[in-house]
Amino acid sequence: MTPSLSLHIIPLLIFHILLLAPPSPAEAGNGQWHLLQESIGIVGMHMQLLHNDRVVILDRTDFGFSNLSLPNGRCRNNPNEMVVKTDCTAHSIEYDVAVNKFRSLFVQTNVWCSSGSVSPDGTLVQTGGFNDGDRAVRALTPCRTCDWREVDNGLSARRWYATNHILPDGRQIIIGGRRQFNYEFYPKTQSTAKNTYSLPFLVQTNDASAENNLYPFVFLNVDGNLFIFANNRAILFDYNKNSVVTTYPQIPGGDPRCYPSTGSAVLLPLKNLRESKVEAEVLICGGAPRGAFTDSLSGRFTGALKTCARIKITDPKPSWVMETMPGGRVMSDMVLLPNGDVLIVNGASVGTAGWELGRNPVLNPFLYKPSNRIGSRFELQNPSSIPRMYHSSAVLLRDGRVLVAGSNPHTYYNFTNVMFPTELRLEAFSPAYLEPGFSNVRPTIVSPSSQTKVKYGETLKVGFEVIASLNNDSVSVTMLAPPFATHSFSMNQRLLVLEPQNLSKVGESTYEVEVTAPGSSVLAPPGFYLLFVVHREIPSHGIWVRMGKSRFVGGHLLAVRYEQIKFK
Ligand SMILES: *[C@@H]1O[C@H](CO)[C@@H](O)[C@H](O)[C@H]1NC(C)=O
Ligand SMILES: *[C@@H]1O[C@H](CO)[C@@H](O)[C@H](O)[C@H]1NC(C)=O
Ligand SMILES: *[C@@H]1O[C@H](CO)[C@@H](O)[C@H](O)[C@H]1NC(C)=O
Ligand SMILES: *[C@@H]1O[C@H](CO)[C@@H](O)[C@H](O)[C@H]1NC(C)=O
Repeated sequence: MTPSLSLHIIPLLIFHILLLAPPSPAEAGNGQWHLLQESIGIVGMHMQLLHNDRVVILDRTDFGFSNLSLPNGRCRNNPNEMVVKTDCTAHSIEYDVAVNKFRSLFVQTNVWCSSGSVSPDGTLVQTGGFNDGDRAVRALTPCRTCDWREVDNGLSARRWYATNHILPDGRQIIIGGRRQFNYEFYPKTQSTAKNTYSLPFLVQTNDASAENNLYPFVFLNVDGNLFIFANNRAILFDYNKNSVVTTYPQIPGGDPRCYPSTGSAVLLPLKNLRESKVEAEVLICGGAPRGAFTDSLSGRFTGALKTCARIKITDPKPSWVMETMPGGRVMSDMVLLPNGDVLIVNGASVGTAGWELGRNPVLNPFLYKPSNRIGSRFELQNPSSIPRMYHSSAVLLRDGRVLVAGSNPHTYYNFTNVMFPTELRLEAFSPAYLEPGFSNVRPTIVSPSSQTKVKYGETLKVGFEVIASLNNDSVSVTMLAPPFATHSFSMNQRLLVLEPQNLSKVGESTYEVEVTAPGSSVLAPPGFYLLFVVHREIPSHGIWVRMGKSRFVGGHLLAVRYEQIKFK
């Protein structure tokens, strides 16, 4: 080897070593997209992950035929349907994450622009819709062969574009919907079966021309009241007393954030849960300026909102803090990641929600890091190649990927001659924390086992393995309530951060961390959660845990339980 050659090789070797060194979380790449299915046969308008690691996906029934047949020659004969009265195609599926397969489900009424929540026993209870489905209640219990069961008039009022939230007693509240300035509960007691309760806030926030208050953003605050955001402002609401507790200021600028000026919103991760006063913050991003909907209808497409507004909803004098995204976004989904970051994905930079009203898809997700200093919270992520416009959705999976489906800005299943063809492809976005370079720092949970029951306030020991040396200052345990995602809003999405109280090394590369489970059903409504160990911002795969009592709902409160209802 000549000296001159070796001189060339040494820098090359150093260069290679640098390349092979695992990236540190701070300098991580920007995520990867993977196509999972060329076609799932239906549009992913609504998605919900259940505790058997299957994602229930729903589409409206009145588009016409989907691209997926119902098995065994089954058909829906429904004289009330708008387009086809006899339909042998599926409009709902169950996607099995572990094996990347799906089976069709038989939904009997129109779920178009409906809503839902998972009840404490893990059953998806899905409400409302359009036409024959507008007062329907549907239940899907997770099991290999289970299918939808429905009651036609389970709701007291028709609910189309309503928002649901699970309550501490296990019931769900169903708020608003088109021309419904009220709310109701499900399941019901015999005495309240016909009741709706008025909510004048929904009248006050209803724009004459475009509403802009549909699918309101609803979060259960840590004091037990509901934070309800519609149009450009919010209230804190006591649903038991039917009274407004706090009126929050309008978002600076005054532009609407709710359907059809569809922005998105999350309750930021709840921390310091053992303190007497837990703080809660809400982040609302994107949307479309006032007038954008009527402008789009007449062919004038306006740029989407570039701003996010963040507010401490537990503050005695709450005020919005404005931030600027890397670009404008409308119809985006905000997904809480296990490490507390927020992924803003899907949507467009021009136009509004609604048929044919969006333009310029935004293919790059934005990652928002809530704990960074203001001004350095956004990171641009790698783009997908698939536009995800109106009727698209995104949900987090147990392994940390984000499942993305849907997009259909037309009245029918149009695959040709349209600007944004109906989209049946299923994709996953892998955030940078899934890069193989992090396998040494990524925790693996070894105990407890999946489906463990957790009592409120109990000390929970979580065993995990980390191959590289542990940075014991940056371990946390998080619990995520998997949401019902539709129309850019994820109902019931909630991430709880459990600070380690005691961390000990129990083996060569195994550790045990002690945390206190959330102290009440106000902090964590009963039901199934995904529990993660996070080390240096890299999350483990989640395990399923079940919070609270095993009974469906708060016992005596309910004379009628959904098990007792006569489902078709
Ligand atoms: C769906 O079905 C239609 C009609 O049969 C067909 O033209 C189209 O290619 C199919 N699309 C997909 C993505 O399978
Ligand atoms: C969309 O599909 C419907 C139903 O098949 C059809 O009537 C309509 O012409 C299609 N629209 C376009 C733009 O191709
Ligand atoms: C921390 O855990 C270790 C090992 O399980 C135990 O010996 C110790 O008592 C615990 N300390 C506290 C403060 O809980
Ligand atoms: C955490 O790390 C520090 C510094 O290495 C060490 O002194 C401390 O004992 C560790 N604590 C636990 C619980 O492992």
